[in-house]
Order: sequence, then structure tokens, then C-alpha cells
Amino acid sequence: MRVAVLRLGHRPERDKRITTHVGLVARAFGAEEMLLAGRDEKLVAGLEDVAERWGGDFRVRSVLSWRGEARRWKDVGGKIVHLTMYGTPLSEAIGEIRLSEAVMVVVGAEKVPPEIYEMADWNVGVGNQPHSEVAALAVFLDRLWGGEELNREFEGRIEVVPSPRYKTVIERREDEG
Ligand SMILES: C[S@@+](CC[C@H](N)C(=O)[O-])C[C@H]1O[C@@H](n2cnc3c(N)ncnc32)[C@H](O)[C@@H]1O
Repeated sequence: MRVAVLRLGHRPERDKRITTHVGLVARAFGAEEMLLAGRDEKLVAGLEDVAERWGGDFRVRSVLSWRGEARRWKDVGGKIVHLTMYGTPLSEAIGEIRLSEAVMVVVGAEKVPPEIYEMADWNVGVGNQPHSEVAALAVFLDRLWGGEELNREFEGRIEVVPSPRYKTVIERREDEG
């Protein structure tokens, strides 16, 4: 299944850190791409740098029309999941969502435009309490893949050797391939 994450409502002066975390979680938890509604070149460059050093083929794209992107996604058969505290409980929706070939997961910042509720194939609540787009995305992706995403190999230049006590990291030079 292909998974893209659409980040709505990013305010460059306020949301840098949390939007970066949305991108890091998207990549680490198995999404192929993050679409950022609006522009923040520094943020995009920061995430691309992580992807370049830590591996995988994650991409980040600023989009000027998120509506256009969402429509095009649906036109080619993709599904849209909007994460919202008001939505259907995750445990009720996830079985059906898993049958999709491509899923765009939408997370907001403050209030999201009301039409996203209409465009979405599923409005899904990760619980029905207010929390965070970072937490909602991580739990959603983990349930989507049943935990398998955590075992994925990224084959980056930087690699952590898991250890119960020490920080062990292998860093290959760029020319080592
Ligand atoms: C800080 S919350 C904004 C909550 C806001 N009251 C609203 O109208 O959605 C930012 C984003 O976190 C996500 N989020 C927060 N709590 C959630 C929950 N319980 N389930 C799913 N997503 C959630 C949603 O994507 C939301 O747009």
C-alpha cells in the first residue's frame, strides 16, 4: 500500500517543530511522502536532509493547492483518511482502510477547512479526546501496518546498532555508497 501524509494548516512562524515531527513520523512509520500545504523551504530542506542521511526514499513536497492534490489522488483511485478527534473510532475503520491501495492521511494544525470532512473517505478518531497530530499519525500508521513498519530497513549512510546500554552508530562516508 502507498501512503502519503498531507499536513494542513502549517504556520511557518509557529509550527516548525511540530510539522517537522509530522514529517519525521511519516517517514519513520512507513509513509512514502509528505505533502505540506503551503511553503516552508527551510523545513522541507531539513526533512530532505534527514531522508538523505538516514536512508529510505521518503520525499517532501510543498503544495500550493492541497485541494487539487487531494482531488487528483482520488481521481486515480486513492483514498483519503482524515484524522480528527470527532471521527469514527480507529478500531472500527482500520479493517476497511487496510484494503486500500493508496491512502492519503490528512492531519491538521488548528482548525481544518470543513470541506476535508466531505472529501475524506474516512474521518477517523484516534480516540475521541484532543491530543496531537504527531501522536495521531504515529498511532494510525502503526495500526495500519500492524507494527511491521518498525522493522523496516532504511539502508542509510547513518545506521543505529541497537544496544541495551550504549549509543552505537555507524556512519558511512558519502563515497562508500
Ligand atoms: C491540535 S489538533 C486540532 C484539534 C482541533 N480542535 C480540531 O478542530 O480538529 C491538530 C490535529 O491533530 C489531530 N488530532 C488531534 N487529536 C486527534 C484525535 N483524537 N484523533 C485523530 N486526530 C487527532 C488532527 O489531525 C488535528 O487536525
